[in-house]
Amino acid sequence: MMIDTHCHLNSNDYENIDEVIKHMDGNIMIVSGADMASNRENLDLVKKHSNIYATIGMHPEVASVYNSACLDWLENHINDAKVVGIGEIGLDYHYEGYDRELQKKIFIEQIDLAKKYHKVVVIHSRDAIADTLDIIKSYLNGYPTVMHCYSGSVETARILTKMGVMLGIGGVLTFKNASKLVEVVREIDLKYLLLETDSPYLTPEPFRGKTNEPYNILYVARKIAEIKNISVEEVLEITTNNAIRLFDLPM
Ligand code: NI
Repeated sequence: MMIDTHCHLNSNDYENIDEVIKHMDGNIMIVSGADMASNRENLDLVKKHSNIYATIGMHPEVASVYNSACLDWLENHINDAKVVGIGEIGLDYHYEGYDRELQKKIFIEQIDLAKKYHKVVVIHSRDAIADTLDIIKSYLNGYPTVMHCYSGSVETARILTKMGVMLGIGGVLTFKNASKLVEVVREIDLKYLLLETDSPYLTPEPFRGKTNEPYNILYVARKIAEIKNISVEEVLEITTNNAIRLFDLPM
């Protein structure tokens, strides 16, 4: 069994979303929220499909539309069936003009909410690793947390895993210029790694350029197996168990 621990299955990204979901029969997907529309859509998806779970949250890119009503909505739905975490939340300093202080404030507010209800925190961090690390050290040291789509250095990976943070590994690992991430996967124990696609984005080789789908975690698993010189079955077994344990999935 495979678990795509982080994907987006919003209907307007796919011509035939039912087919994409059917492709994952016998496997599990965790759909990640990013804004109110995707949060609502995720709650519908988990009701329709037994093998889909959800996280809900407000992404730093929508910080400017976040308000107390969003936080109330998240709190009202955090204990809905199959909601296993808060995410993706975090910091994104990629573009000029983003309000960094506002991003930090809503990141911390949502962390506090997750902790109040004992839900996993799923972090998005882009070009903001120093501030992200500071917040993790202050609020999430030892708390069930995932650094989604990890793309940092081995040194940072060591700091994170020492605090118990899990690293989501996606299709970027299969790219030709992924030497830094290859080193991370080689050096970090498999017990800290999770498979994810971040579908519809970041499609792994050999499908780069096409729309990504959860089934493609198989190609990420194959690459991890190659790097660690172990079988794909072992990669799937360990990463699946990591995800079941972290998200407390009923198996
Ligand atoms: Ni994502």
